[in-house]
Amino acid sequence: MSATIDACDVIGAPVLPPPQVAGAITRLRALLARVHRGLAPPPVQVLEGVFGLLDHGALAALCNLDVPEQLDRPLPVTELARRVEADPELVRRLVHYAAGRGWLRVDRRGRARPTRTTRFLRRDHPGGWRAWVEFASGPEVVAAVARLGTDPRVADAFASANGAPFFDWQTAHPDRHHVFDMAMAAGGRLHGLALAAALDWGATTRVCDIGGGTGALLGVLVDRHPHLQGVLFDLPAVIARATPHPRVEVVAGDAFAGLPPGCDTYLFVNVLHDWDDEHVVQLLRGVSTRAIVVEGERRERPVDDITARTDVLMLALAPGGRERTTGELADLAARAGLGLERTVALPTGDRAHVLR
Ligand SMILES: C[S@@+](CC[C@H](N)C(=O)[O-])C[C@H]1O[C@@H](n2cnc3c(N)ncnc32)[C@H](O)[C@@H]1O
Repeated sequence: MSATIDACDVIGAPVLPPPQVAGAITRLRALLARVHRGLAPPPVQVLEGVFGLLDHGALAALCNLDVPEQLDRPLPVTELARRVEADPELVRRLVHYAAGRGWLRVDRRGRARPTRTTRFLRRDHPGGWRAWVEFASGPEVVAAVARLGTDPRVADAFASANGAPFFDWQTAHPDRHHVFDMAMAAGGRLHGLALAAALDWGATTRVCDIGGGTGALLGVLVDRHPHLQGVLFDLPAVIARATPHPRVEVVAGDAFAGLPPGCDTYLFVNVLHDWDDEHVVQLLRGVSTRAIVVEGERRERPVDDITARTDVLMLALAPGGRERTTGELADLAARAGLGLERTVALPTGDRAHVLR
């Protein structure tokens, strides 16, 4: 899949937008959202917050009914219901909710119509984003988020709800672990494209992706830069599911026991945010050349973006895990003996931190 992947497949636009444009769009959306909220009286804001949980349930229901697959053209709701073999009234109610979210559209004739997002929700879409719905609607994730809500002081919400810490639980549940890998691969393709374009890879020869999942990111990166050799490093259960690539060596192991030697660049993409500060320092100490850390950048002043959401997701899934400001990452890197050389904004909204 990686050889042919392009921006249309991963983000729905012919090219990745320049980071400044992506940043401006995020800020504009945040401003409009503030205006939207500001126009609502407080009780409506409270109810909208409470009913936020229904977004998740309705999206999962729509996908579990295969609505994205069946809605391949404008369809009367009764016809859509026939196709998905469900009660027309159930389908109408979900379709109307979904129209308010942009997952599909309802036209003047009352027909459901696919939007760009509907296509991204299909199981066979090359971007693979459907896996995020399947991951986030898994009972273990739902239980962890619920535990955070009922017991916010608990040290590890995921383990408290499911009996084991996140990665141990995943390893013991291969079917769900595979879904998590697929969700990570969707982001990996996007990050692969973004990193391939945003950084100069000319002086790099051998790049290791630590916690690189099944290799989606590395596959895209080495395809775009044919002089690169890749080393994919992850837990044994994940490496067993890796997608083979002729220029990517796969290495299974525990990053806390040491990193594969002999690479001039080590990537950590959405990996450090899984861990507390001590573990992050331990991981970075394994790097004696160059590290590129890609994470959502937490701002000192709150911004309503994906990073604000993944920061709270980490509260539910990963004890001590968090999104960090560039300053916080630089401080942890310094404790590991690495200096922050520069940072590069990415069109994904994340930031690449180059450490040496
Ligand atoms: C949040 S995912 C990020 C995956 C990928 N880098 C991305 O951005 O999509 C974290 C990855 O770290 C891996 N991981 C967790 N603990 C690890 C360990 N001790 N050693 C190596 N990899 C580990 C997980 O299996 C998973 O693939």
